[in-house]
Amino acid sequence: MSSSSTRCRSFFVFPILFAVVLFGLLFPSSADKRHVINFRSPGLYPEGLTWDPRDQHFLVGSLHSRTIHSVSDAGVIETLISDLDLPENATILGLTVDSTNRRLLACIHSLPPLPPFSALAAYDLRSGGRRVFLSPLPSLPGDDEDIARDVANDVAVDFKGNAYVTNSAKNFIWKVDRDGAASIFSRSPLFNSQPVAADADASFRDCGLNGIVYISKGYLLVVQSNTGKVFKVDEDSGNARLVLLNGDLIAADGMARRRRDGTIMVVSQTKLWLLKSQDSWSEGVVYDEIDLDLEGFPTAVTVGERDRIYVLYGRVMEGIMGSYKEEGAREWFGIEEVWSEKEGGEDKIWLYVLIGFGFAYFCFWRFQMKKLITNMDKKIT
Ligand SMILES: *[C@@H]1O[C@H](CO)[C@@H](O)[C@H](O)[C@H]1NC(C)=O
Repeated sequence: MSSSSTRCRSFFVFPILFAVVLFGLLFPSSADKRHVINFRSPGLYPEGLTWDPRDQHFLVGSLHSRTIHSVSDAGVIETLISDLDLPENATILGLTVDSTNRRLLACIHSLPPLPPFSALAAYDLRSGGRRVFLSPLPSLPGDDEDIARDVANDVAVDFKGNAYVTNSAKNFIWKVDRDGAASIFSRSPLFNSQPVAADADASFRDCGLNGIVYISKGYLLVVQSNTGKVFKVDEDSGNARLVLLNGDLIAADGMARRRRDGTIMVVSQTKLWLLKSQDSWSEGVVYDEIDLDLEGFPTAVTVGERDRIYVLYGRVMEGIMGSYKEEGAREWFGIEEVWSEKEGGEDKIWLYVLIGFGFAYFCFWRFQMKKLITNMDKKIT
């Protein structure tokens, strides 16, 4: 009798456990909500965003205060770097973490009417942000910087610590080695071969090569804002090829790569594109397009903890237009997780499979219970 009563209890426990698990899956709790981080820093207007996987926080740059800050999951912001050797009011643009050397690389640029300045800065993350180098980036021979200035816009880094910096004004790529030696690396004629989008407005008509990522197989991908094209650039030769895509990424800005599956994310002020390739980026496909909040002026995308995708709402244009000078400078900015419905689909299939199993188990349990009760009845009577 005692053995059948234990069995009886476990028959009750399992379906209840299962129901709890199923309930958790069907009605996702806070753990499954889109992660939105608001952080307060008056007048910051950050353009660049990256994730530091070691210290588990985001890093954002400032529009005019020569500072770089960490932002935690919970929105706690701290000043990591304050570099007064940078020209007054200089802007921090693209950021990336060099994990091999534990460094932070930052594109530095002075907007008009400040004197022209484009450089790459490297900071040692092990020593709390001590500067390793500040390398001015060379202009093309014969170029007059006072007429059209270079713009060091975004940066990617390879496993040896070489940095690749896009010049969005002049359509070429610089290389800066781990000791800070800078040179012009790729000036492919392809970068000037594509038609500027017909609907390109003043905000990005003159903006060429922009977001850049390093792919471990010895090449880089770079996106061009005013044409919406993506190029594959050889790490050694600097030779470029046009990536064939099923659409143009018009007004593209920052770019990031998810390591797990090689997905590429490209952000613009209105949307986030998700791209995949089966052949190492001879061809690629845009498989999802997610609408973003135009008012927040998203400029950068990064991959955070557990492969989550985040965009930065830094409202940079508002800052550039000068409202930061007045007392009413904006105080709050945001980093927001972005979900792809198309990717969520896989999880849903698992949910249906689980429900199916659950139902089968329930039927089996009912059947066993019935047998048990009939047996017990028999014994009692
Ligand atoms: C930097 O910005 C401040 C505040 O807007 C301004 O007062 C100052 O003149 C600027 N410095 C330069 C060099 O333009």
